[in-house]
Amino acid sequence: VVPHIYKYHGVWHTPAQLRGVLALHQHFQAQDSDILLVTTPKSGTTWLKSIMFALMNRSRYPKSEQHPLLKTNPHVLVPFLEIKLYANKELPDLASFVSPRLFCTHLSCTTLPNSARDSACKIVYLCRNPRDTFVSLFHFSNKLRTPNLPPNSIEEVFDMFCEGASVYGPFWDHVLGYWKESLRKPQKVFFLKYEEMKEQPTLHLKRLAEFLGCPFSKVEEKEGVVGDILELCSFGNMSNLVVNRGGRLESGEEHSAYFRKGEVGDWKNYMTEEMVQRLEKISEQKFKGSGLCL
Ligand code: A3P
Repeated sequence: VVPHIYKYHGVWHTPAQLRGVLALHQHFQAQDSDILLVTTPKSGTTWLKSIMFALMNRSRYPKSEQHPLLKTNPHVLVPFLEIKLYANKELPDLASFVSPRLFCTHLSCTTLPNSARDSACKIVYLCRNPRDTFVSLFHFSNKLRTPNLPPNSIEEVFDMFCEGASVYGPFWDHVLGYWKESLRKPQKVFFLKYEEMKEQPTLHLKRLAEFLGCPFSKVEEKEGVVGDILELCSFGNMSNLVVNRGGRLESGEEHSAYFRKGEVGDWKNYMTEEMVQRLEKISEQKFKGSGLCL
């Protein structure tokens, strides 16, 4: 399914990702003012990248037709640290990014650089229920597949996901690691689920703004700034922008591969009862006693 993945500090990576992780350990120095968006793959990273970029830059681009998100893919505006830092590419000058720097990564708690852990930088963590995460991953894995190869079967991808051998997996360990950190250090780690963001976007966007130290003012609320950000970053809007319908990331993936359905519950269209039960069982075992429910 994924031809070669390697376990490093208990986490599965493709060779390219692993190069990025190692480069990141070597070259990345977190600053106290940094904001790191950390996500599990296929949990809505692209969406939250857009939201956080719009949120943090709202005074620079108020309701503007020149908004960077209308012309530039969110993965370019908010880069994946480990992709930016691939060892075999030229090192970008991360120190020249304007403060507060906003980066994204899929790194697990166990492979996060010490400076990110020890500095005062803030972490926003996003995850999604394992059923929709898996279905999204299944489709994505086939989009990335070389066209002349047969598609991955859902059973194959499912087995690997359950065994933990998905990129940045095991999924459950990834989520649990940050969940525990968010309980230990709520001022440092903000834990968010895709489903809750979908259900109450206004509430969670306001919470996020407060966590990041840039709460919406009464005037902004009255002027509808919260709703404007959510509308700008909505699936309908983002997936239809020319920039997101064409083009590729530095690492080769098509921009359009990051926009599929953008819904909660699509798993019902793909998973058998046995599959659901198997995931439930793993979640029960892994999350037992943690207070976490996905
Ligand atoms: P689906 O495959 O279920 O549609 P990531 O960005 O972490 O790779 O996650 C991709 C998932 O987020 C895909 O889920 C994609 O459709 C969804 N997504 C992308 N943009 C979104 C948006 N603006 N709002 C909601 N979901 C979005």
